[in-house]
Amino acid sequence: MALSPPRIFLSEQQIQQRIRAMGEQITAAYPQGPLYLVAILKGAFMFLADLARAIRTPTRIEFIGISSYGKGKTSSGEVKVTKDLDVSIEGYDVLVVEDIVDSGVTLNYLINVIEQRKPKSLRIATLLDKPQRRLRPVDVAYVGFQIPDEFVVGYGLDFAEDYRNLRDICVLEDGAASA
Ligand code: IMP
Ligand code: MG
Repeated sequence: MALSPPRIFLSEQQIQQRIRAMGEQITAAYPQGPLYLVAILKGAFMFLADLARAIRTPTRIEFIGISSYGKGKTSSGEVKVTKDLDVSIEGYDVLVVEDIVDSGVTLNYLINVIEQRKPKSLRIATLLDKPQRRLRPVDVAYVGFQIPDEFVVGYGLDFAEDYRNLRDICVLEDGAASA
């Protein structure tokens, strides 16, 4: 099945420029390492790769797998850990790296899970934030872009596993993907 061409919403250049600024801000906030960057699979992998290189504090990279959305565009409301951290983060500074905060269900759950591992500090960095859609409170320390209630793909974000490799963040044209 052919995929419809998406419309560019945030260009590669806009994304990269914003991530460089976030990296500076995070570097200043954590002058001493190691800082654990915990990326949420799979959507955050590309953001993690660029953010990690924009941070000059020594970092360590971890991944956590969470299932929440399935194949549609709306959260199932059910969250579970599908891949846990490989190491103990007890006593370390931890920055959770997420692609997008939508309902907040995923991060609200995940933050509770990570808190139980007793990090020294715990904050969230997200590339995108859709505040209008929030159902659960989430305290996000670093936000790349606040965006309106549109379904976006690319730069790690998928629709039913497609579009993750786009360099820009795009909106699917009407009818391209109705959930
Ligand atoms: P939440 O639990 O509703 O906050 O959902 C967060 C997760 O839903 C994100 O990590 C994404 O994987 C996915 N998601 C939310 N909005 C979008 C979108 O516009 N495009 C692609 N994935 C999305
Ligand atoms: Mg995600």
